[in-house]
Amino acid sequence: MVAARVTVNGQETPISPAAPHTTVLDFLRERGLTGTKEGCAEGECGACSVLVARPGVKKPTDWVAVNACLVPVAALDGQEVVTSEGLATVGEPGSAPTLHPVQKEMAARGGSQCGYCTPGFVCSMAAEYYRPDRCAHAGSEDGASHEGASHDGADAEHGPNGFDLHALSGNLCRCTGYRPIRDAAFAVGTPADEDPLARRREQAPPAPVATEYAQDDRAFVRRSTLAETLHLLRERPDAVVVAGSTDWGVEVNIRSRRADCVVAVDQLPELRELRVESDVVEIGAALTLTEIERRLDGAVPLLAEVFPQFASRLIRNGATLGGNLGTGSPIGDSPPALLALEASLVLADADGEREVPLAEYFTGYRQSVRRPGELIRAVRLPLPLSPVVAFHKIAKRRFDDISSVAVAFALDVENGVVRKARIGLGGVAATPIRALATEAALEGRPWSAETVQAAASTLRAEGTPMNDHRASAEYRSAMLGQSLLKLYAQTTEAVPS
Ligand code: FES
Ligand code: FES
Repeated sequence: MVAARVTVNGQETPISPAAPHTTVLDFLRERGLTGTKEGCAEGECGACSVLVARPGVKKPTDWVAVNACLVPVAALDGQEVVTSEGLATVGEPGSAPTLHPVQKEMAARGGSQCGYCTPGFVCSMAAEYYRPDRCAHAGSEDGASHEGASHDGADAEHGPNGFDLHALSGNLCRCTGYRPIRDAAFAVGTPADEDPLARRREQAPPAPVATEYAQDDRAFVRRSTLAETLHLLRERPDAVVVAGSTDWGVEVNIRSRRADCVVAVDQLPELRELRVESDVVEIGAALTLTEIERRLDGAVPLLAEVFPQFASRLIRNGATLGGNLGTGSPIGDSPPALLALEASLVLADADGEREVPLAEYFTGYRQSVRRPGELIRAVRLPLPLSPVVAFHKIAKRRFDDISSVAVAFALDVENGVVRKARIGLGGVAATPIRALATEAALEGRPWSAETVQAAASTLRAEGTPMNDHRASAEYRSAMLGQSLLKLYAQTTEAVPS
């Protein structure tokens, strides 16, 4: 096996002697690339944002911004990373570097004061700058620079250049204020022909490589196939399985956890498929939420409502459905929606596969029917989908926050009667749950103010909500009831009295 190495700003760099748990952030900083900053070390501030070359959705390769504080550098064996230092073009020795277009706009429009957050903003902004869809919105991508190019979809969250401000939802700034940063984002043009990172998108992404990186009896391992991975997990049922590491990175940084063996599954082809057939949508457990969002392109409207509210773009670029379900958190954002969609999970181990309805998957706080050595391979959503859907996330911030309560609805309403109701809840019990009593209170009844008022009372009593630092039990119960009233108002534009 070739020694583990990562290409940083075009230079191949050996990963050794970093420990297997060393984050990309620490790896870069220890090598003098101190533009990448540590703010929170738990994926909330974006000061550590860097660009990674990944398989593209519209082009062979996408430049994807990720939180360097969460990803072990060993996970980037064979991969390519660009930092804020790598965006500028260095000229002759002694001459000043030529700033990248996003750096230029940030400087020109006052987007940086103390500068601590700036390299992270610049990397997130650069990922959006190179997003092929954005360029398509802003005009034909003919390679020429179109400063100020406009498109008709400009609104509060999208610039006239197609820039989606959600690209920056995981970046916090403490001193500049966001208006100049938004001005810079909305001013960037499209990449020029000779732009090396734009040209890189046309080539194949880095091929996945098998990795066996060990130091002091601790190892980070990546196998090439699902079968090899499942055999490894049979031998090492104690191994920590990671995809985007958005959860494990926090455990390493904040709780100082170290695992003897970490097994990466994010590049397994068997976990990265997405199929839409006549009776089912099957989503690979290791596709990132961004990939699912862009590949489905609204085909599952309930999930399309979840994605923008799920953490931040930086987290969605790493997080997977397999991870969100595998950790078994009662406040994960995907389980309520997947419960409402009547999802099932395909679980695989070295002996074969089985399919488990998600409603039967969780067995207790962070516990599930998944056995040691078993992986979530895919999530299946049966078709057809119910047409009346909503995802209501109640949190202290609109974006980049953790749910106090999450409610997902999927209803069939025919001729004014509720034929079928599926409601998933998060944050009101030790596990995500279905609101079975409320579903029964709705089904077969007219979709009317009277039915909804009665069902909202039932919904307030679902689960066993707790008091904690995010919300009181009373508040959580109240929000459940309000959520159904809100859905009714959204579908009828009439609030029941
Ligand atoms: Fe805050 Fe990484 S240091 S997100
Ligand atoms: Fe100071 Fe953003 S410029 S934190």
